[in-house]
Amino acid sequence: MRRKDKIIFLKGEKVILRPLRKNTDLEKALRWINDPEVNQYLSIYFPINDKKEEEWFDGLYKNDDNLPFAIETLDGKFIGVIGLHRINWKDRVATTGALIGEKDYWGKGYGTDAKMTLLNYAFNALNLRKICSAVIEYNKRSLRYSLHCGYKIEGCWKKQIFKKGKYWDEILLGIFRKDWLKIWRKYEKTGRIK
Ligand SMILES: CC(C)(COP(=O)(O)OP(=O)(O)OC[C@H]1O[C@@H](n2cnc3c(N)ncnc32)[C@H](O)[C@@H]1OP(=O)(O)O)[C@@H](O)C(=O)NCCC(=O)NCCS
Repeated sequence: MRRKDKIIFLKGEKVILRPLRKNTDLEKALRWINDPEVNQYLSIYFPINDKKEEEWFDGLYKNDDNLPFAIETLDGKFIGVIGLHRINWKDRVATTGALIGEKDYWGKGYGTDAKMTLLNYAFNALNLRKICSAVIEYNKRSLRYSLHCGYKIEGCWKKQIFKKGKYWDEILLGIFRKDWLKIWRKYEKTGRIK
């Protein structure tokens, strides 16, 4: 796609977020979620085939309690997905989930930028109040980037998730707009969290 034809919904420092596109994105997403190195961090435990993936995709945009996005690098590589889920418009809370499926892009700040960009949309466009997330205890990278973005650990469900032959804790995180704003102001100015 030529640069001027690119679809951009939100623009960050390192990534853009755009709506998912069935005909171009599904195949990559299918590879990512079935990849054991990625899947170990997800709640999905059955193999996902084209049909299941398509059903999932078709369900995504049906209600306004789910807002999924593709994560693309600024030079146009589709590397992952991120979204607001279980949006509760009365309580003004939602849950975030993210997945960078291209593993060469892990640990290079793309997730942090995607999350900060999404939180800016959640808090400053949608007027949400609080965003939650949950991480399996061995997913240190995910925990770390969430804490960088300002999430705080609010609790833990002990021995909640069975993976790799044993039960693991699920760490529960939350972030309020006022706490995130302090981090955002610096990020907006400098492109840095720390
Ligand atoms: C979790 C995820 C979205 C984070 O995105 P990312 O681009 O890799 O994260 P970032 O580079 O922005 O930040 C990662 C932080 O963790 C650190 N980190 C990287 N690898 C790590 C590891 N193995 N252990 C602990 N910390 C690690 C990075 O150094 C960085 O912290 P720093 O800035 O203090 O150095 C991405 O790695 C991913 O999609 N992983 C697979 C699926 C997944 O775990 N999804 C989340 C489910 S809750």
